[in-house]
Amino acid sequence: MRLPIVAANWKMHKTPAEAAEFAQALVAPLLPFEGVERVICPPFIAIPAVAEALRGTPIKVGAQNVHQEPQGAYTGCISVPMLQGLVEYVIVGHSEVRQYLCETDAMINAKAKAILAGGLKPIIAVGESLAQREAGETVAFVGAQVRAALEGIPAEALPSIVIAYEPIWAIGTGRNASPEDANQTIKVAVRDVIAALYGEATAQQVRIQYGGSVKPENMADYMRMPEIDGALVGGASLKLNDFVALVRLAQEAKSG
Ligand code: 13P
Repeated sequence: MRLPIVAANWKMHKTPAEAAEFAQALVAPLLPFEGVERVICPPFIAIPAVAEALRGTPIKVGAQNVHQEPQGAYTGCISVPMLQGLVEYVIVGHSEVRQYLCETDAMINAKAKAILAGGLKPIIAVGESLAQREAGETVAFVGAQVRAALEGIPAEALPSIVIAYEPIWAIGTGRNASPEDANQTIKVAVRDVIAALYGEATAQQVRIQYGGSVKPENMADYMRMPEIDGALVGGASLKLNDFVALVRLAQEAKSG
């Protein structure tokens, strides 16, 4: 049984003070849901404040990106050693970073390796564009993203890796993938690809999230799908009651 994981990707929202206040307010309502791993990914500048607010609680902190080198002349970047002790998870390969910051599959692979080497856990985001979907390329494209991200990563590391399947056309659009469709893509383009690379037993240990316009109204339908082990949530994670509801719905669906 895989522990469900619901992660809040706050993207470029909240100042450090706002983030700390929100994180503090989340603690009590999120505490009862021990059957779900709960992760908050604030902007870099708010990570210390959120880590402080969540210290001693079971709620984890994640970063939204990282540079693959431990240090160097990389203006504006943050490295794994800088995040150690503050976060447990790091999102890499988010479609917004791939698109706006020109992050490549090779960079995502290097970042995933650096995150694992530093004792942290990558949440590797993959997903197709609307044009790719309409051209029938979803499975080939997402499968290739998964293969590229995992290149050279040993099987022992796989249980520490989370994959987030986020179809680009569903992010922030209100147009979510149907639960059956997301489940099927996760199965054939992610879990089966991992099974082909590492074997079925290893593939069964990897947690795979869905992301893209997840909200309380559709969460239960996703969480009832056998291949979907949680959600990576943008907009709805910025509303306290909504995010708490998402975690509750994950716990109810997966324990029921
Ligand atoms: P929305 O939940 O706002 O669609 O964003 C999804 C996402 O990109 C999470 O990483």
